[in-house]
Amino acid sequence: MRVRVPAKVNLHLSVGDLRPDGYHDLVTVFHAVDVFDEVVVSAAPRSSVRTVDGAGGGAVPGVPAGPRNLAGAAARLLAKECGRSGSTGPVAIEIIKNIPVAGGMAGGSADAAAALVGCAALWGLDLTRDQLAEFARRLGADVPFALTGGTAVGTGRGDLLSPVLARTPLHWVLAVAGEGLSTPEVFAELDRLRAAGDPPRVAPVQEILAALPSGDPVRIGAALGNDLQAAAVSLRPELRRTLRAGRAAGAVGSVVSGSGPTCAFLCPGPDAAADVAAELAGSGTCRAVRIASGPAPGARLVGSG
Ligand code: C5P
Repeated sequence: MRVRVPAKVNLHLSVGDLRPDGYHDLVTVFHAVDVFDEVVVSAAPRSSVRTVDGAGGGAVPGVPAGPRNLAGAAARLLAKECGRSGSTGPVAIEIIKNIPVAGGMAGGSADAAAALVGCAALWGLDLTRDQLAEFARRLGADVPFALTGGTAVGTGRGDLLSPVLARTPLHWVLAVAGEGLSTPEVFAELDRLRAAGDPPRVAPVQEILAALPSGDPVRIGAALGNDLQAAAVSLRPELRRTLRAGRAAGAVGSVVSGSGPTCAFLCPGPDAAADVAAELAGSGTCRAVRIASGPAPGARLVGSG
């Protein structure tokens, strides 16, 4: 079973207090973009997880192999909970990776969502979207959104979703950093900054929700915001230069995606995105540049051969 699953950027991310369970209450607007991982799930004598680079086919540094990979955890969770209702068994999981690793684009969560969809199909489990979403929630805060895709508001840990009807395509340039950031470390840095002072907070979510239906990139660009940006920049001060370079190149909005360090630049259209990408690539402020558009659909079966 071959499943295609998108990356996400957060158009808005406001972070509340640290909860007793180690998570923070969030209000976020997720937006899936057409940078896809593919996850291939096959019955095998022994369970395994292998990741290959979607661009070159080689190994991908920084992705846990074998049982520590969240995609493997997804297969185990489904087998444990649904073992009686289908013919579950060991699976070989191959992840063809295009989503930047530890980039704030929920790549690991996307692979887990894809593994859920792939294993459910392989084992003939007749699960509703709600049942899949419940398993997704148990795997991580960003996993349910990778199932649904599109654009959605997330509350709670970010895992309670309600869709936003905003179908106008948005054109993005993504600046990928040389080295990833750890999500827990970025949240901890925000807690530290807040204990020491009063870092700026994003505007209420209503601002981006009012801008989205207009489809106007200038208005949407002005409403992008992320409370984690200050923490990501504090840990990686060079991100300031990346953000400045993208805006100077003609982007109408810029935001660090999730916990970073990927920076997302909103452009007025596809031609402008090509120009911004070329200029950013030559600026020397990031490792790689990608053009993307959203909203993209969530995890989908694309083959069963
Ligand atoms: O759910 P996931 O494993 O992706 O989250 C990774 C980490 O990010 C959590 O362990 C926590 O430190 C942090 N996090 C948070 N609040 C959220 C989501 C994630 O503090 N709402």
